[in-house]
Amino acid sequence: MTPHQTVLLDELVNALALKAGDIAIDCTVGGAGHTEKMLQAVGPKGLILGFDRDERALGLARERLAGPLATGCLRLIKGPFSSLGQVVDAAGLTGKIAGVCADIGVSSMHLDEVERGFSFQNDAPLDMRMDQEGGRTAAELLADIELDALTQLLRDYGEEPKARQIAKRIVHTRDETPITTTAQLAALVKAAAAYPTASRKHPATRTFQALRIAVNDELGELQSMLDSGFAVLKPHGRFAIISFHSLEDRLVKHGFLALTGRRERADIPRDIPLREIDVVQLMHVRGQIIKPFPMLPSEAQIRANPRARSAKLRTIEKI
Ligand SMILES: C[S@@+](CC[C@H](N)C(=O)[O-])C[C@H]1O[C@@H](n2cnc3c(N)ncnc32)[C@H](O)[C@@H]1O
Repeated sequence: MTPHQTVLLDELVNALALKAGDIAIDCTVGGAGHTEKMLQAVGPKGLILGFDRDERALGLARERLAGPLATGCLRLIKGPFSSLGQVVDAAGLTGKIAGVCADIGVSSMHLDEVERGFSFQNDAPLDMRMDQEGGRTAAELLADIELDALTQLLRDYGEEPKARQIAKRIVHTRDETPITTTAQLAALVKAAAAYPTASRKHPATRTFQALRIAVNDELGELQSMLDSGFAVLKPHGRFAIISFHSLEDRLVKHGFLALTGRRERADIPRDIPLREIDVVQLMHVRGQIIKPFPMLPSEAQIRANPRARSAKLRTIEKI
């Protein structure tokens, strides 16, 4: 198995501006590249809480980071990052967190482990669950979803222009043969959505993305983490997220904007002289976006790791 190549490693950890002794959270341990660097930043008196819902990823992290686990500088939590608020509360750490980060989506390990069913490049059972200990597989989802709901899912999560044709083909096919493998689904989509052969993308790319997002409730998870990740921060704590496609980036961008409270600018009286502190209070300003534009990987990073090409990093600081 190819180890996951961490994307925007220095950029993400620097964005958190961690200091020795800080407590911070990595919502997506994965191959543990960011976690390891965060451990270095907080040092032996600090603490990192690391979440992942994939037991295999956590198993590898336990091996890679056996030292900090043994000294108590690292706690690994098997579960979705939507449980972050509860876990941090139960540990009595709400309001004490200096940094929260997430590098969302699948890892290279998911894509490269053929039997996980994330990729149409090889044939495998149509699973796509990040947490293989629970939830419905993509095959189970496709077995009984209604035509209209499937069309909507492909449009919303895959931005698939041929959603209706593909959904019809899936529903028609499954009435005769259950759709249980990645190769079967890829061939079926290719037949339903006749894109010009010159197109660079495999015709099933969007369908696979949409199903993966639905199976793992990725956007629901992200929305929940946006709220709880910010809530657990202490003043001046930072929250940094790397996303990989436009649906996620849009949620992060708008979620961060809502967290700043800046939308309430219109409520401020214009005819009274105000001190900065009054403006902050009147606007209910709770956070400050660190840079107006997302940070992107360099050309060199993309050459070394083509999967980094769509990464976008956004950061907000709590006031
Ligand atoms: C892109 S990888 C993270 C890579 C990591 N930053 C590194 O340096 O190797 C994303 C990881 O987040 C996990 N993940 C995705 N969504 C999750 C969620 N809602 N809750 C917990 N873990 C999640 C995946 O299982 C995967 O291991």
